[in-house]
Amino acid sequence: MTAARELKITPIKNGTVIDHIGNGLALEVLRIIGIDEIDKDSTVSVALHVRSQKIGWKDIVKVENMELSPRKANAIALIAPTATISIIRDFRVREKRAVDLPDRIVGILKCPNPSCISNQREPVESEFDVVRRRPVVLRCIYCERLVDDFHPHAA
Ligand SMILES: Nc1ncnc2c1ncn2[C@@H]1O[C@H](COP(=O)(O)OP(=O)(O)OP(=O)(O)O)[C@@H](O)[C@H]1O
Ligand SMILES: [Mg+2]
Ligand SMILES: [Zn+2]
Repeated sequence: MTAARELKITPIKNGTVIDHIGNGLALEVLRIIGIDEIDKDSTVSVALHVRSQKIGWKDIVKVENMELSPRKANAIALIAPTATISIIRDFRVREKRAVDLPDRIVGILKCPNPSCISNQREPVESEFDVVRRRPVVLRCIYCERLVDDFHPHAA
């Protein structure tokens, strides 16, 4: 197994590993996870600029005692489409999946159009169709504004 060699940071007993994050994007991923929501006794490890067979250079984030919500996994897919998410239980990888960009992104981005209805009234949640995947381009379902520069906020 190559994993032992690859572990540049302390193994965790339970938690989530987000691996194969594009080089330099780990801090953005942490922002989506929402670092202040993490249990105060848990460790968060970040490795930047790690050599990767698959993608050249990558970042890795490991969060103890947290299993990522699907909504946050979708938000991570927006900025880090190559990422894989592994759920660790009792030191072993119990589940591993690629992040998956859905066809529709609900509630994790703000429409950049200030007069869009999703920015006017509280109960209207933002909603975008994914119109292109590599690179990602979104279209607001309300005002049709195209978005290719995102700063997802975790929700
Ligand atoms: N107990 C653990 N604590 C922290 N990280 C772990 C633990 N076990 C595995 N990992 C990490 O979880 C990820 C997935 O583990 P796995 O053993 O499947 O790695 P792998 O063989 O390198 O697979 P791949 O890189 O193809 O996803 C890797 O980043 C690995 O370093
Ligand atoms: Mg690996
Ligand atoms: Zn809009």
